[in-house]
Amino acid sequence: MIVAVDGPSGAGKSTVCREVARRLEWSLLDTGAIYRCVALVARERGVDGDAEACGQIARELDIRFVAAPKGQRVFIGTRDVTTEIRTYETTQCVNHVSPMAEVRAELLAIQRRLGRLGHTIVEGRDIGSVVFPDADLKVFYTASAEARARRRMKEFASKGESLSFEDVVEQIRQRDETEYHRACSPLVRCADAVLLDTSDLDFERSCRALMDLIARVCREN
Ligand code: DC
Repeated sequence: MIVAVDGPSGAGKSTVCREVARRLEWSLLDTGAIYRCVALVARERGVDGDAEACGQIARELDIRFVAAPKGQRVFIGTRDVTTEIRTYETTQCVNHVSPMAEVRAELLAIQRRLGRLGHTIVEGRDIGSVVFPDADLKVFYTASAEARARRRMKEFASKGESLSFEDVVEQIRQRDETEYHRACSPLVRCADAVLLDTSDLDFERSCRALMDLIARVCREN
């Protein structure tokens, strides 16, 4: 089974999907991590403004997700990039690398290959619309910009990065603008996706909501 979970950044998708996959003993494919790897390499090579060069990096990307006691680790070849792909700089960079059509086209095959390894929750922006339009269940996660900013603040604080609340809200609005309006694979709520608004849901209730939807689809199949 494939469960496609899409939604804007900071709506709680990643943490909820990770926990639900752990509880169900399913695989999790965090497609944002794949885009982040391309951005990291592009930035290091100084080519993050060059769509063709970024497409080439995506084509050659040797990405691996490795299960570890404290969650999945992400490798490019033998290099563990789990922490580096989450820094503020990489996040800024991926926001202009991920809309590139050259990058998206190259990453499609990787996502489809990794998503088909058993029961998998695949989370991203265009999973239900482009990557797995035939997913068994499509969920669209969302939350208000303020609720998302509060969550992002906690994440940044835990990594020792400090930003003002207003700056984080502004960043989220800008990211939404890019993601909803980009030419290639914009973030859309598919007509057949179930909407989950997590603005007023705590972590446990967000997990329960997703697990209930999955359980219903499992019963129906
Ligand atoms: O979910 P995230 O913040 O780790 O995503 C990182 C970036 O990749 C962000 O700019 C959105 C983009 N992304 C995308 O365009 N399509 C996906 N399927 C997943 C992520």
